[in-house]
Amino acid sequence: MIYLDNNATTFLSPTVRSRIGSLIAAPVGNPSSPHRLGQEARALVEKARDQVAAALGAPSECVLFVASGSEANAMAIAAAQTCGGDRDEIIVSAVEHSSVGANAAPLGRSGYVVREAPVVGSGHIDLDRLAGMVNERTAIVSVQSVNNETGVVQPVEAVAEISHRAGALYHCDAAQALGKIPIDVGARHAPDLLSVTAHKIHGPTGCGALYARDLSLLQPLVGGGDQEQGLRGGTENLIGAVGFGAAAAERVRDLAAVTALLAACRDSFEHAVLAAEPGVTVNGDRRHRVGNTSNLRFPDIDGDMLIAALDDRGLYCSQSSACTTARPTPSHVLIAMGLSEPEAYASLRFSFGVLNTQEEAEHAAHCVVDAYRDLVDRLRRIGAA
Ligand SMILES: Cc1ncc(COP(=O)(O)O)c(C=O)c1O
Repeated sequence: MIYLDNNATTFLSPTVRSRIGSLIAAPVGNPSSPHRLGQEARALVEKARDQVAAALGAPSECVLFVASGSEANAMAIAAAQTCGGDRDEIIVSAVEHSSVGANAAPLGRSGYVVREAPVVGSGHIDLDRLAGMVNERTAIVSVQSVNNETGVVQPVEAVAEISHRAGALYHCDAAQALGKIPIDVGARHAPDLLSVTAHKIHGPTGCGALYARDLSLLQPLVGGGDQEQGLRGGTENLIGAVGFGAAAAERVRDLAAVTALLAACRDSFEHAVLAAEPGVTVNGDRRHRVGNTSNLRFPDIDGDMLIAALDDRGLYCSQSSACTTARPTPSHVLIAMGLSEPEAYASLRFSFGVLNTQEEAEHAAHCVVDAYRDLVDRLRRIGAA
């Protein structure tokens, strides 16, 4: 089995697995209980918060635990309502994760204007067009740090500068950035709100975090107890938070060395595929992308057929698309970058994680070339390619 779908989710790292395992076996209390077991649990949650905050360069009190990256995005976008003034526009990039657009849409129905900021063919946000869109009516701008499909890295500082110059908030979805590139919300031009999630960095599913420069920008989506500074009701996900903290600390410890290894795996995979099949092309800017992602377009085939053929060979990757029950829709990211629908359907995403090896990368390239040639042969025989 070779797992190259780490942008979808990652396996727990051995450190996180053992940390969570020992906690599952231990008697733990509710972090809000005043007794010793409760206070021990509270200390674990707060240590985890410190670890996640340190990975973002944030003060711990500005970091809230939530249930997912999607929830963090939803809370962040809702800050459009609290930013003050007559600001009634929300600007969302055309390549955001669906949880950003989906949570902006209800605000659109309640009087806000939701506008889409375009990207250029490389996948980068069109900064000139963005600068032309942001003005005194803009409440919030949401532009991700790293794209989940192509790995393209967006110019976060420039987006922050454009947003702040007009007095707008800047939200950055950094779910795919954490553990792949440095994050520093304390930088001169930095996001006001930033979302991350544990399961993309070899932590557990079901735990995300939202950084907010100023917590008064936020309003609870889930009422109830006064957990998370009164901003998210519900007993804390202790195991999720501890796993997230351990994963975050592990990922930022040797960031440069680990990401160099990831890039070496991805590059040897990509070079081998492109050398064997010169018709295959890379989607997105090859220079400004994180080191783990390769989004490849294969001529003459439908990506879901290649995914199935690779699945049979024990290699797991994904098509750059959100699945519907009937047929995957073409990736909105690739379409926004100017690809045609057939080109988007012909594209697959291979995403490496820290548990992958160089041998796997080389073997994966053989598998992909072999499966692709086999598929094209079969399609030619029936006159479909
Ligand atoms: C860029 C990006 N944002 C947000 C999310 C959502 O994270 P979660 O699965 O924790 O809701 C994902 C997950 O695919 C993502 O890739």
